[in-house]
Amino acid sequence: MGEPWFALRAVEDDDRPAVGVFARAHWASTTMVSSGRVYDLTQLDGFLAEEGGRWLGLVTYAIEAKRCQVVSLDSTAPGQGVGSALLAAVEAVARDRQSPYVWLITTNDNRHALDFYQHRGYRLVAVHRGAVDRARLLKPEIPRVGEGGIAIRDELELAKNLSDRP
Ligand SMILES: CC(C)(COP(=O)(O)OP(=O)(O)OC[C@H]1O[C@@H](n2cnc3c(N)ncnc32)[C@H](O)[C@@H]1OP(=O)(O)O)[C@@H](O)C(=O)NCCC(=O)NCCS
Repeated sequence: MGEPWFALRAVEDDDRPAVGVFARAHWASTTMVSSGRVYDLTQLDGFLAEEGGRWLGLVTYAIEAKRCQVVSLDSTAPGQGVGSALLAAVEAVARDRQSPYVWLITTNDNRHALDFYQHRGYRLVAVHRGAVDRARLLKPEIPRVGEGGIAIRDELELAKNLSDRP
């Protein structure tokens, strides 16, 4: 495989205002409610994919108690390897920090994300029924209807243990 056509780098403090703009464009605000917790995406660690100064994607993550949560992952260049590269960058940090359990939340409508993560070794570990309905009380901007006209109501928790054999 050749070199990727975009660059990856860690989010730096100077990027945080632009992370806010990016987060608002993709998630309607800078906050993300996940598993009942409110995260400020502008304050998290993360990686950017960029080309010629243009942002192509952003992943944010949080490592706590030796578990690494992918809090958000967005690509604006679909199907060109940006999402995979961002996810791999977080997995590399998780390995380095001896936190090989990587987990994330997506929503019941997001069939594309479900495919994307399962193709990369993630498995469903829980369905949190009604969790998005509860999250909407904290973040009213969460849309009610998602991909394919499906009502967004439940959180799907996926995880991958990087120590496991593939
Ligand atoms: C999920 C997401 C991050 C993937 O990013 P991406 O840059 O398209 O990822 P990649 O290019 O590395 O891989 C995309 C997959 O879709 C396929 N694909 C091909 N053409 C595509 C297209 N036009 N649009 C989307 N995916 C396409 C790729 O071949 C690849 O398939 P694979 O899983 O069989 O390998 C991106 O779709 C996204 O930002 N979604 C919206 C936010 C979201 O749902 N985030 C995840 C939940 S928090």
